[in-house]
Amino acid sequence: VIVSAILKGKGNAVVTARPTESLQAISKLLVKHRIGAVIVCEPAGPPLGILSERDIVNAVAAFGAPGLDRPASEAMTRDLLTCEPGNSVDELMTIMTNSRVRHLPVVEQGQLLGIVSIGDVVKCKLDEASAEVGLLRDYVMAGR
Ligand SMILES: NC(=O)c1ccc[n+]([C@@H]2O[C@H](COP(=O)([O-])OP(=O)(O)OC[C@H]3O[C@@H](n4cnc5c(N)ncnc54)[C@H](O)[C@@H]3O)[C@@H](O)[C@H]2O)c1
Repeated sequence: VIVSAILKGKGNAVVTARPTESLQAISKLLVKHRIGAVIVCEPAGPPLGILSERDIVNAVAAFGAPGLDRPASEAMTRDLLTCEPGNSVDELMTIMTNSRVRHLPVVEQGQLLGIVSIGDVVKCKLDEASAEVGLLRDYVMAGR
């Protein structure tokens, strides 16, 4: 299975925030959309970074509650690890495990096409495994 198949299922929409938005405002955005990370960019601009729940926890650990007033630009990860629509789900698992990240924006030729989370990858592997079990069961039954 490749990334474009996952996007076909979940869509291309990406929740984004501007670099000047506060961590407090972004916390509300994460809760509203029931997600763990936003891509940081200017409207219609290229991705500048990613800001996850972990970045918010780090800011609170370092600065206490006032950390929530800091802007996204000061808490986000700028070195974006990305994937492409043609990458396999196994490749994503390797990147996520080795780099300890849970979200990979899907980017092709500088264009943001979607986002894939570790939950999307796990769901895909579970679907794959249960399809395989079904096939094996049919095979065994046919031979009886
Ligand atoms: N059953 C499913 O289809 C499915 C898929 C993914 C996650 N989940 C569940 O959601 C929970 C949390 O998942 P998670 O830790 O992988 O991450 P998450 O909460 O950030 O992601 C949840 C879903 O939102 C999407 N998403 C995340 N950030 C987004 C953004 N900025 N813009 C657009 N979409 C975005 C993800 O791709 C994923 O489909 C877990 O309990 C997981 O099992 C379920």
